[in-house]
Amino acid sequence: MDAYGPLALTEEEEATLAGEDGRAAKKAMEILVALGNIYGAKRLIEVKSVQIAGVSYDNLGDAGLAFLREIALDGRVRVPATLNPAGMDLQDWKELGISEAFAEKQNQVIEAFARMGVMTTCTCTPYFIGNEPGPGDSIAWSESSAVCYANSVLGARTNREGGPSALAAALTGKTAAYGFHLEEARQPVVCVEVDAFLDEMADFGALGKVVGEKMGNRVPYIDGIRRATTDQLKSLCASIATYGGTALFHAAGISPETVKRPRERVTIGPEEIEQAKQEMSDDEDVDFIAIGCPHCSPAELRRIAGLLRGKRVSRETWIAVARPVKEAAEGEGLIAAIRESGAKIAADTCFVVAPIRGRFRCMATNSAKAVFYGRAKNRFKTVFAPLEKLIEIATGP
Ligand code: F3S
Repeated sequence: MDAYGPLALTEEEEATLAGEDGRAAKKAMEILVALGNIYGAKRLIEVKSVQIAGVSYDNLGDAGLAFLREIALDGRVRVPATLNPAGMDLQDWKELGISEAFAEKQNQVIEAFARMGVMTTCTCTPYFIGNEPGPGDSIAWSESSAVCYANSVLGARTNREGGPSALAAALTGKTAAYGFHLEEARQPVVCVEVDAFLDEMADFGALGKVVGEKMGNRVPYIDGIRRATTDQLKSLCASIATYGGTALFHAAGISPETVKRPRERVTIGPEEIEQAKQEMSDDEDVDFIAIGCPHCSPAELRRIAGLLRGKRVSRETWIAVARPVKEAAEGEGLIAAIRESGAKIAADTCFVVAPIRGRFRCMATNSAKAVFYGRAKNRFKTVFAPLEKLIEIATGP
């Protein structure tokens, strides 16, 4: 059966397009129809959840804020929707050195989303806060690392939505059926055999860089990862989606989807992973330590708190996390232990979308994704190192 176009709408969708459900829903339907036609979708499908990027005022500016305010006049979400990180910690922004002027605008952005009925939890790890789709579920998520995690680890189906298309999906409860919503686009085309020992999240981030660069837009089937924690997989997902164009892989023994192992194969060995690590490190003095890209899990917070206990940081250190994860960790005393060291908790935000360009010279991180955007967006030099080494640098002379 031909899965592609022309796009046919149901009566209900036609009515929304004609403006019967209000101006925002009409605009949203126009976006979905335009995308559906561009990508040759035959129909729209319902989505179970939405994750919306384009939340930081640093990226949106006044034009983006005006667009959201207009949509918020009568736009209301039809499915559960959460947000990507904002440009600041929505409560402790002063502690992170954010200006009053920025905070005012950022709050207006959040208010606009809240008026639409979006849950204003700002995180790139919605799967840590209860938004965890199952195999085969259709969703519309924007954040590339979360898209890759949802597709590859959870077996859900989502394209890499832009901010406006994710918002359109939230306002209609629909998305156009193309790309990774369709069986044929999800098939792997190259088998990547990993012949290397992987231990730290940083190892998985480096592997993701190599895989992403080798694969580009092609969907890989990864074999040879013997064991991986959730944190290691989130690191791999963030990295593959950053350094390559695809936000889907299948990994033997990890991904839930049944697919055929492709004939074409490439091998990745320890030398390539080591080289990737070296490429992400400039030889510079570190003045900023960034941990939590993607946002930290409860397990990571426990490890960080343990490593920091009884020590003082001598460099600006941010630990990025979803607010609900932070609140749960408060009960365990982890946040107090981290704060006692002088490290800062950056809830709701991250080092890439916060307005910190020019504030630091060299950022140390265990995230390959943070390296990419730290260099590209914030013009930082970078040091790429595993968590233990980061804490050593943070607390060193
Ligand atoms: Fe998340 Fe920001 Fe990294 S959105 S994946 S912490 S760049």
